[in-house]
Amino acid sequence: MCVCPWWLAYTFDNRLRRLLYKPETVLNPYVKPGMTLLDLGCGMGFFSIAMASLVGDTGTVIAVDLQQQILDVMMNRASRANVAHRIRPYRCNDEDIGPHTSVDFALACYMLHEVPDRARFLRQVCATLKPKARFLIMEPKFHVTKRAFATSLAIATEVGLVQVDAPVISMSHTALLSNEA
Ligand SMILES: C[S@@+](CC[C@H](N)C(=O)[O-])C[C@H]1O[C@@H](n2cnc3c(N)ncnc32)[C@H](O)[C@@H]1O
Repeated sequence: MCVCPWWLAYTFDNRLRRLLYKPETVLNPYVKPGMTLLDLGCGMGFFSIAMASLVGDTGTVIAVDLQQQILDVMMNRASRANVAHRIRPYRCNDEDIGPHTSVDFALACYMLHEVPDRARFLRQVCATLKPKARFLIMEPKFHVTKRAFATSLAIATEVGLVQVDAPVISMSHTALLSNEA
C-alpha cells in the first residue's frame, strides 16, 4: 500500500475539487450541530473544515492522519476559516487510529486503499461508532477498481459493519455503513 505524500495532496485538495462535489452537500444528510465527528485520513482538511462548520461551537471534529505535515496544513487552513477551535488533530500510525471518544459520524475519504490492514482498521472504526452512527467510505473511481472496492466492503461486513446506502457522489465509489442493522 502506498500512502499519498503530503505535498501531493495539493493536487486534489483545491478549489477545482469543489466543482465535482461540495463537502457540505456530501455531509449535510449525516451531520448536525453538536455532533462529534471523525475524519480518517483527513489530509489537508477538504472535509474536516466543512465538518467543523456544520457541527458549530458545540461540536467537535477529530481529524486523524498519519502525517504531521498534512495535519499542520489542515490546521492552518482551519484557522483561516475560523474553525480550528472545533478540530482536534491526531497523528495516528498505520496500525492504530488512536483512542477516541465515541462518534456520531465517521468519514474515510480516498484513504482506505492506502491502509495496509483494512480489517484491523475497519474493526477500530466500528468500535468507535456510537450505536446507529453512520460511517461513509468514499474511494476514487480513477484509482480504485470496482472489484477492489467490493473487496473492501466484504471486509467491512466481516468486521460487523452493515451497508445501509450508497450515496451518489461524483467520481467516487461510496458506501454508507452502520454498526447496527
Ligand atoms: C488521498 S489523501 C485524502 C485526504 C482527504 N481525506 C481528502 O479527501 O482530501 C489520503 C490521506 O490518508 C492518509 N492516510 C493513509 N493511510 C492512513 C492511515 N492508516 N491512517 C490515517 N491516515 C492515513 C494519508 O496520510 C493522506 O493524508
